[in-house]
Amino acid sequence: MAQYKIRVNESDHTVTASPETPLLYILMDQLELKGPRFGCGLGQCGSCSVLLNGVETRSCMSQISSIGNKAITTLEGLPALYATQKKLATTPELHPVQQAIIDEQAAQCGYCYNGMIIKASELLSKTPQPTDVQIRAAMSGHLCRCGTYPRMLKAINRAAQSMRGGGR
Ligand code: FES
Ligand code: FES
Repeated sequence: MAQYKIRVNESDHTVTASPETPLLYILMDQLELKGPRFGCGLGQCGSCSVLLNGVETRSCMSQISSIGNKAITTLEGLPALYATQKKLATTPELHPVQQAIIDEQAAQCGYCYNGMIIKASELLSKTPQPTDVQIRAAMSGHLCRCGTYPRMLKAINRAAQSMRGGGR
């Protein structure tokens, strides 16, 4: 066991774990975050995704000893990250991708949506006006057993439009 200092959603934490412990377990069990989900545990479904320095990363496959001082953003931290990226005076309650998913009624059981939202936010921060082909390519590593892909595509397009307009 060792102690690790990690920065999650702009807050510093010291956690105790063995070096090979997946970051997902730390986030769920020690920090009690509800965003990242355990799905396959094999890096294949995307339900556990977080941003590491802004890059979507499978937390089930990321050992705590490999994190170092990289900034971790979970679903809970997305609105604040968006406010920073857009230099907003206040932090919105929801990231535009989250709002668009509600507006489009895109989710079904919702289990995959942590990873879907994390990945879509990463895409739109880098590609403000993606084509449907680019969206499908970006989201292809995120599995939805409910088959909500068409509604997710609509929601991401809606979020992109909102973000280009400075929306929230
Ligand atoms: S739980 Fe991490 S990719 Fe499936
Ligand atoms: S909405 Fe059920 S797994 Fe995607």
